[in-house]
Amino acid sequence: MDVDSGIISKMTTNVGRVSEKQDVDAAIGSDGLTAVNPGPTESGHIHPAADIGGAAVLLNVGERIGLLPHLSEGAVVSAKFLAQTLDLPESSLVEYLQALTCAGLAECVSETRGLYRASSCFEEMLHSIGYVSWTLNANRPFVEHAREFFVSRSEARARYHRDGHQIAITSQWMGAEDFYPEARRAIFAAQPKRFVDLGAGSARLLIEVLLEFPKSTGVALDISAKACQAAHDAAQRVGVTDRLEVVERSIESVASDPGILEGADVIHGGFVFHDMLPHDEPTFDRVLHNSAEALAKTHGRMMVTDAAPFVQNPRERTFSAAVSFLHHFFMGRRLLSEEEWSGKFRSNGFTAIECTRLAFPTGRLFTAIKS
Ligand SMILES: C[S@@+](CC[C@H](N)C(=O)[O-])C[C@H]1O[C@@H](n2cnc3c(N)ncnc32)[C@H](O)[C@@H]1O
Repeated sequence: MDVDSGIISKMTTNVGRVSEKQDVDAAIGSDGLTAVNPGPTESGHIHPAADIGGAAVLLNVGERIGLLPHLSEGAVVSAKFLAQTLDLPESSLVEYLQALTCAGLAECVSETRGLYRASSCFEEMLHSIGYVSWTLNANRPFVEHAREFFVSRSEARARYHRDGHQIAITSQWMGAEDFYPEARRAIFAAQPKRFVDLGAGSARLLIEVLLEFPKSTGVALDISAKACQAAHDAAQRVGVTDRLEVVERSIESVASDPGILEGADVIHGGFVFHDMLPHDEPTFDRVLHNSAEALAKTHGRMMVTDAAPFVQNPRERTFSAAVSFLHHFFMGRRLLSEEEWSGKFRSNGFTAIECTRLAFPTGRLFTAIKS
């Protein structure tokens, strides 16, 4: 059990049961399962709603014009450089950077030379506004067309889709502190020699593994051509293309063709497995089964990060209800509870399952092995 490294609650169990007791520091259930009181939400950051609203609109404007990746506390950037890079008028950029400075999100290094850098609270605020931006921006089509979804979900689902880029960006903002660090810690602890990431996105996590373990190799599988290109570009930037295989394929295809799992000692899936449920449950089962078979040969482990539905403890219940309702009602997805995940792993050949509750409300990291 680890309470100091961002883990909010952790249970190791062979029976797949969990405790929801939240009002004590630690509780051990009769089944031997331990749950730790999670403490404050969002890694302890508490911002007034007005600050979050203000920062949300300012930083989302910056994201839409492509400026945010250029802003960091460590690097000074000039309005002139931004104007050239983003192909925008310098005067408009200065106005925007001055607004960020007034908000306390940036600092002016030299007014005459138009030099700016992010303030010390920039990253922390980006993390906090990630929640607002994911719920309201990334899910905007659902909110705007809510009435149509209430009248006919099937028609509205076919018609209205979320912007994948907005989902990726806002997930990154939320996850930077609330789910990636825990997944990274657990994966690094496993010291992977061959890491397969199913639904890898831009292969951010995989590339971190390759950089941390110079002899390791990896496979980034994703259905999106854009994500695969981003993974390839990122690997090229840091010089790991010789150790990274990028595969543009669906996770579903691993059910009938599991060759890419061969030799893997860590197989990971981050917030992607629920996309197969409920419509493709046999395929979902087959992918888990094939993973268990491949990992049995290397004594490896499977790690899955996903959202648990309608969690009821006070820390998580509001955000969990939003995530669950959005997935169930608007997207027609079935999220699995901790117990259901445990059952799925077990019925597909895994023998020991561990569940860690993440700082990200409703987020769970499952580690499963087949002994
Ligand atoms: C929510 S993102 C998560 C990305 C990454 N795992 C992370 O945690 O940052 C989901 C990713 O899975 C990919 N994806 C969704 N459905 C997929 C499928 N059926 N097969 C393969 N990739 C899929 C998407 O293109 C996207 O890159």
